[in-house]
Amino acid sequence: MSENEKHGLQGKVALVTGAARGQGRAHAIRLAAAGADIIACDICAPASECITYPAATPDDLAETVAGVEAHGRKVLARAVDVRDDAALRALVSDGVEQFGRLDVVVANAGVLGWGRLWELTDEQWSTVIDVNLTGTWRTIRASVPAMIEAGNGGSIVIVSSSAGVKATPGNGHYAASKYGLVALTNTLALEVGEHGIRVNSIHPYSVDTPMIEPQVMAKIFGDHPDYLHAFPPMPLRPNGFITSDEVAEVVVWLAGEGSGVLTGVQIPVDKGALKY
Ligand SMILES: NC(=O)c1ccc[n+]([C@@H]2O[C@H](COP(=O)([O-])OP(=O)(O)OC[C@H]3O[C@@H](n4cnc5c(N)ncnc54)[C@H](O)[C@@H]3O)[C@@H](O)[C@H]2O)c1
Repeated sequence: MSENEKHGLQGKVALVTGAARGQGRAHAIRLAAAGADIIACDICAPASECITYPAATPDDLAETVAGVEAHGRKVLARAVDVRDDAALRALVSDGVEQFGRLDVVVANAGVLGWGRLWELTDEQWSTVIDVNLTGTWRTIRASVPAMIEAGNGGSIVIVSSSAGVKATPGNGHYAASKYGLVALTNTLALEVGEHGIRVNSIHPYSVDTPMIEPQVMAKIFGDHPDYLHAFPPMPLRPNGFITSDEVAEVVVWLAGEGSGVLTGVQIPVDKGALKY
């Protein structure tokens, strides 16, 4: 059996948000390698002045497009902010018009910020909640009707975080957004089951992407050494990061037929860290 036949994704269509770089790019390219055409979006700009790491760019999204096309698949890529309802709906509608169907959604776009809960600004709070939680709900709202309409069932993968099952000090707004995604995942799983659509969340830990700022974390741990205990080592890789490609392997499996009995499930992608 070929790799494509194994996942049953040949000729299917997948929407990936936050696809310009990092994990989202890996998901788009890995899904294309498994035979899917891709609808990709990314803000390709800073989500807010309060986000301290460098933003993705249009060139980053172009690199994702090249990666998808290298597998011989079609791609519709557009700069869209998941907070922009009209733009998200237009993207899904144009993608379905071009590719004829929608089978898979990977709601991956997200931002991370730091600060203790009582020190966060309104801007820090609302940026993280609006992008991570409300943006994911907007992604669901824009795409689920097209999946139901196509009548082929499908799979929705919600990208939460280890911080969505175990809150960490120093980013309570991020944890709140990622815990909220568990509620969205499990509610939606119940609501769309009758349409043959599965919904699961993944909970990555320490993935090597621009979102992770070692110097910011070093300062927090320097100021508050007790916080270090909330960020355990990974039993399978005590001294390193998980790669985006490793996370993408899990996403492709969740998107495909091999995970057909799973819905409403929270899957840690953490090399065991959450067991500490
Ligand atoms: N890196 C980690 O250790 C880690 C761990 C757990 C969960 N996550 C989650 O994984 C997902 C992917 O993050 P990553 O690690 O690849 O970081 P990243 O910053 O490289 O990628 C996130 C992408 O989302 C895009 N994005 C941000 N706001 C957006 C918006 N409003 N609309 C559209 N696109 C937007 C960014 O431009 C970027 O390309 C995020 O949801 C993140 O919270 C990351």
